[in-house]
Amino acid sequence: MVVQPAVAAAPVPHLDSRPQHVAIIMDGNGRWAEGRGLSRQEGHRAGAENLRVVIERFGQHQVPVLTLFAFSTENWGRPRAEVDGIMRLAGRVIDREMTALHETGVRLCHIGDLEGLPKGLQKRVKAAVERTAGNTGMTVNLAFNYGGRADIVAAVRTLVAAGATAEQITEEAIAAHLTTAGQPDPDLLIRTGGEHRISNFLVWQAAYCEYHFTTTQWPDFGPAEVDAALVEFSRRRRRFGLVPGEPGRGG
Ligand code: FPP
Repeated sequence: MVVQPAVAAAPVPHLDSRPQHVAIIMDGNGRWAEGRGLSRQEGHRAGAENLRVVIERFGQHQVPVLTLFAFSTENWGRPRAEVDGIMRLAGRVIDREMTALHETGVRLCHIGDLEGLPKGLQKRVKAAVERTAGNTGMTVNLAFNYGGRADIVAAVRTLVAAGATAEQITEEAIAAHLTTAGQPDPDLLIRTGGEHRISNFLVWQAAYCEYHFTTTQWPDFGPAEVDAALVEFSRRRRRFGLVPGEPGRGG
């Protein structure tokens, strides 16, 4: 798919500070569709169409890491037809979008339980991850069959299986065994669709991130909304539990 904007893309606004990692809960596909008398699957299709638009805009802002929550471990509880529809759509999206993303230097990573996905989809995801592994542009983490608590449990189990003592189970050791190991924690988490919760997404990694909630449904979340979220972020004063202007105990 080649996204042809109906009007010339708006200039990218200057930001005094930009996040190193933005995570997005892409919510509202179903309500977007229902509001238009369409099926929920049409909503997911429209949501999938929006992926490239949003990735491109964050790329123009030179955000190095973007994580997109496309399917949670809890989403298996949705009606069978909807789950099957999302799985089919995911395969098609990967086939359709990967060449263009690869050409722009995007490195695709998968976070979550890959083994739990249908075999054909696993193969496609693995192939896309391998194909783009050497790219040095933006990292796009596709959180597909992802759960934040499961991510922490898996990290701790890996440490225990490797013989770690209680003292060796530290914050650093757990972070180094999460699916996002080696990546910066998200600085900004965006949720579309009007809900104010994180729904088991990156629960460890988001400990100190800033939140941006919008009532816009995911298929309508375009470049102007990306700009607005980043401008708002650049105005936030982050304290990380400290008192600004005061030296900490460490001096
Ligand atoms: C949340 O909206 C969206 C999902 C659970 C699926 C997300 C899927 C996409 C954005 C498209 C597919 C992308 C890939 C990579 C396959 P919702 O269904 O919870 O909406 P609602 O809250 O309005 O019901």
